[in-house]
Amino acid sequence: MEKLLYMQLVDQISQQIRDGMFKVGERLPSVRKLSQREQVSIATVNTAYANLEQRGWIEARPKSGYFVRRSSLDTVDLPSKSKITGRPKPVNINELAMEVQRGSSIKTGSSFCAAVPDINFPISKIIQRTFVSQARMGKTFGEGYDTPEGNAELRHQVAKRALEAGIKLKSDDLITTAGAQNALALALRAMTVPGDIVAVESPCYFGLLQMIESFGLKAVEVPADPKEGISIDALKLALQQWPIKAVVSIPAFSNPLGCSISDEHKKALIGLLQQYDIAMIEDDIYGELNFEGRRPKAVKAFDDDGRVLWCSSVSKTMEPQLRVGWIAPGRYYDKILHQKYVNSISNPSLAQSVVAQVMEQGQYERHLRQAREAYRQRSQHLLDLAMIHFPSEMRASSPKGGLVTWFEMPKSIDATQLYHYCREQGVRIAPGELFSISGLYQHCFRMSHAKPWTTQSEQAVGLIGQQLKKMLLQSN
Ligand SMILES: Cc1ncc(COP(=O)(O)O)c(C=O)c1O
Repeated sequence: MEKLLYMQLVDQISQQIRDGMFKVGERLPSVRKLSQREQVSIATVNTAYANLEQRGWIEARPKSGYFVRRSSLDTVDLPSKSKITGRPKPVNINELAMEVQRGSSIKTGSSFCAAVPDINFPISKIIQRTFVSQARMGKTFGEGYDTPEGNAELRHQVAKRALEAGIKLKSDDLITTAGAQNALALALRAMTVPGDIVAVESPCYFGLLQMIESFGLKAVEVPADPKEGISIDALKLALQQWPIKAVVSIPAFSNPLGCSISDEHKKALIGLLQQYDIAMIEDDIYGELNFEGRRPKAVKAFDDDGRVLWCSSVSKTMEPQLRVGWIAPGRYYDKILHQKYVNSISNPSLAQSVVAQVMEQGQYERHLRQAREAYRQRSQHLLDLAMIHFPSEMRASSPKGGLVTWFEMPKSIDATQLYHYCREQGVRIAPGELFSISGLYQHCFRMSHAKPWTTQSEQAVGLIGQQLKKMLLQSN
């Protein structure tokens, strides 16, 4: 359906404010001027301005016109960018993480908890059809176990796609896995023994912290900047102090910050890893979900001596149920292949074959274009809603891709309490407590912007905002 005229105007003006064309405090064109310029009626402009005012973008000043009130939520400003905030520690977040994880699969209410893709894109039907047709043909059945390195067609497709990330691979450089989580687990197992220390970025994807906990490893948290990603200075300090076995990072559209690091930063990171002769486990699961421009290069693209283990999957771009992922382990290839073999012999081949076919047929590219734009708009809408409903003291990350947004509240607010309150109301968020082993983010929470917006989910953001305001009042 054509967007209503006034809504087109609302989108246009809010985008201009976001882009800095109109600064905070600046006067917007008068109603008459805008109506002449855009060739719309005075009533349409009035309705658009009223909508923007209601949403907190602009304010009317008597006899003077409309002025920009806010440009966006302030960007999160995480602590001590170049310092290490604690010693390496065993991890202990499993119980809350399991509860949150379980809650995220509940179908009722509004869940902003899980970073799972929207299943309403046409690709879902294409995957289903391909699955059915390959199963009917009896493809891969009766062939015994798949090889430990995994389906050759899939490895071929992944190697082709890796060129977009600046990585030059042959199919034989890849091993398929049961999702990215499995790839990370194989990598960690191959690189460490219980008691070893690994460096993780902070805030850190809690699935990784849970894994570190279950493997009996210790983690040292290296601060990540919402724009720049993992701090090189802080990582250097950590490498100087402790015998770290591997660095694990999500350089592209990280979970939970959504930031993506620059190529210069990637080169500096590789330089440091070479200096200390350390391996890096790169989780690139969100790399193809850029909102704008080109897909970012992987750190692996700058790795000339095979120390980066590049891990990814189709869980965020196609469907997590497929459990199809991969790893390009560089110089650790034999260790990873052995780990995969002793842990699972091989993976189910049918799902791998289905993914290979979908990737090959060009529908995947089309899907990615559609998904990137949809997620960009949904992420922006979440930030707009947060600006309207959340207290003005809040800060938010400004994701450039991926599925999640990070919110930071004044330190007096406990996000785990907020999580429990919201859960009782049927609204789910991921509390910041899960993303640190040192309690650094008790005042933060993560929301997924993957699902299409509905009146119910918009109201749920309002409910979170109301509770936040209440908690803030009580804490003052
Ligand atoms: C950063 C990150 N890595 C890995 C995973 C797990 O991915 P998969 O479903 O492919 O195992 C997730 C899932 O949320 C994630 O956010």
